[in-house]
Amino acid sequence: MTGRYNPVMTEEQRIKDLRQRLNYCNYRYYIETDPVVSDFEFDTMLRELQDLEAAHPELADPNSPTARVGSDVTNEFRSVEHTFPMLSLSNTYSLDELHEWIDRVEKEIGGSEFVCELKFDGTAISLTYEHGRLLRAVTRGDGTRGDDVTENVRTIRTVPLMLTGDDYPDFFEIRGEVFMPYTSFDRLNAERENNGEPLFANPRNAAAGTLKQQSSQVVARRGLDCTLYQLAGDNLPCDSHWGSLEAARRWGFKISDAMSVCRNTEQIDEYISHWDTARKALPFPTDGVVIKVNRFSDRRALGFTAKAPKWAVAYKFKAEQAVTRLLKVTYQVGRTGAITPVANLEPVLLAGTTVKRATLHNADQIAALDLREGDMVYVEKGGEIIPKITGVDLTQRPAGSRPLEYITECPECHSPLVRYEGEAKHYCPNQSHCRPQILGRIIHFIRRKAMNIDGLGEETVELLFENGLVGCIADLYDLKAEQLAVLPRLGEKSAENIITSIRHSTEVPFHRVLFALGIRFVGETTAKYLAAHFRSLDAVMAASREELIEAEEVGEKIADSILDYFADEQNREIIERLRAAGLQFEARQQTPASEALRGLSIVISGSFRDHSRDELKAMIEAHGGKNLAAVSANTSYLLAGDKIGPAKLQKAQKLGIRIISEDDFHRMIADNMIGGIAEGAANAADTAAGGSAPPQGPQSEPPQNAPDSGRGGEQPQQGTLF
Ligand code: IVH
Repeated sequence: MTGRYNPVMTEEQRIKDLRQRLNYCNYRYYIETDPVVSDFEFDTMLRELQDLEAAHPELADPNSPTARVGSDVTNEFRSVEHTFPMLSLSNTYSLDELHEWIDRVEKEIGGSEFVCELKFDGTAISLTYEHGRLLRAVTRGDGTRGDDVTENVRTIRTVPLMLTGDDYPDFFEIRGEVFMPYTSFDRLNAERENNGEPLFANPRNAAAGTLKQQSSQVVARRGLDCTLYQLAGDNLPCDSHWGSLEAARRWGFKISDAMSVCRNTEQIDEYISHWDTARKALPFPTDGVVIKVNRFSDRRALGFTAKAPKWAVAYKFKAEQAVTRLLKVTYQVGRTGAITPVANLEPVLLAGTTVKRATLHNADQIAALDLREGDMVYVEKGGEIIPKITGVDLTQRPAGSRPLEYITECPECHSPLVRYEGEAKHYCPNQSHCRPQILGRIIHFIRRKAMNIDGLGEETVELLFENGLVGCIADLYDLKAEQLAVLPRLGEKSAENIITSIRHSTEVPFHRVLFALGIRFVGETTAKYLAAHFRSLDAVMAASREELIEAEEVGEKIADSILDYFADEQNREIIERLRAAGLQFEARQQTPASEALRGLSIVISGSFRDHSRDELKAMIEAHGGKNLAAVSANTSYLLAGDKIGPAKLQKAQKLGIRIISEDDFHRMIADNMIGGIAEGAANAADTAAGGSAPPQGPQSEPPQNAPDSGRGGEQPQQGTLF
């Protein structure tokens, strides 16, 4: 199947040949689930194609199979008007209402045929194909306009980039659902938990959030899936929904196997009752069944309301519910002092897991539910990982129970709580002496995406705190290896490692330092915008409210939080100590020309924390170096990011080429000292060897020839059945 390289073929022909083969392999693997080549053979062909495409930029194709791995070009998400509005569905939880709908339809069109389908719980997508090639992918948005997320959708393996067969219309739109299977969702949340990032509440939010990711490489890694359920266009090769989806299946789309033609209420009820149970064994989330009229002529007769078609309805499954006793409400204090009430429950089995705790969000929610300790409460798991309390069974309320009084003092340090204007949560204002806040800030500071101090985990931070060695982030920079080596569970080696990694953190670029400070509402992205706008910490500190708001993404709430942070004397002291420790308080010049890399050839592989690969390339050139696409004996360094391609890594190791990290690279430029990086290079090789890597794809441009909304005569006419 690999079709070894035939020397008679030109490179251009081989590119076409590989694209075809890879598309077919992809179709067999993801759509037919019947692979025709091994993973190794697939990867070998893909790498060959990547190398050839790198050597022939003039032959770039946005729909090449190499687009599957995404690129690090920042997505722009152009707003696009839908050719036909993306309507929603009328929905019901009641079988009686559903039966009334069926009766109405049958009466109006004199007997009908229905198609029952699962209702996938993800986010809607509209795909447009022209001459069998994916032209664009647009989110639902407000139903009239959505965002162009084509680059991200290209990375979804089940979305065909080029269609198979020859009976597809020249131009058509197909709609469906992008969703996140449970395995991808669990893996993503586990990773986020590891990195101290907020978790996605459910696969639906994760799918929607992922589609709007700035980097399609990130999307490629997250394992989204896509099922299509609605086709429209001119000259469809059939006159029914069932037939059109069967055709779409032949063209390479993933169409659900769970669809069924039903001819009466009994058959529809049977379908629903089967899937209400069977769906629990599915590897992806569903939240109901959609019942659609099959024949397009019947659909035309039925028409639309302003918001939804009259020819379809969604029957939603009830969220799984259990009743249990609320034993006690306890309170957690976060790193910013935010208080979160937690319901501690008598353990109860719900949707396959034992539930002992539920989130309560804030005081208002407790008051709205009139929750009392000892109450029997309804607990629901509606796709969320953490269950929620949806109500109280008042008939079982114990006599003499009293309304719950929300705490007025911090459960940890007993400071009186405050509530900021417009905020639902209470806060403990004692930032400097409240244990979970101190620990939370230090733990946030050392995170991978902040100062990346490895070797220090939550437990070690607690140990250092208990032993009086750190009370704030600045104390980390005063630590000595001897102080750490004597602590339980830490030996000399780990003590040394911690100190080295603290020292290395002084190289972490300014925007991450700004994020690491843990200013309320200043997340990773805001920190980047602030750093780009103000260029130095001193400039951020000197900025007025109005000036802060001028920075992208910064609104009044964030500006006030920044002002509060720097108005605090203790924070300013910490800042001065961090400055003295040598942290980066200024944004590095983007590409200050120098001769630091003169005579060096550098290959870049993987994804990087601080710069896109394009930026790194520009930096290499600005400093006199050469950027090469492939590792060879002439390569001086392999600049390795996360998830570097294993082939490149192996080749570099075999040829004895030095592997450097992004930090090493910055140091080489900053210090102009090319020899002294052995230590960092060893680290980079460790990280690099860890993950199996999605290979790199070309940086494809959004299609230039996307039709605008006014395609006039070419618009699908008879198929306008969305
Ligand atoms: S048909 C005119 N079929 O449910 C409506 N929608 O609540 C065309 N959904 O926005 C939609 N599975 O995102 C249809 N089998 C299915 C579906 C489905 C999930 C979603 C879709 C839609 C939402 C409406």
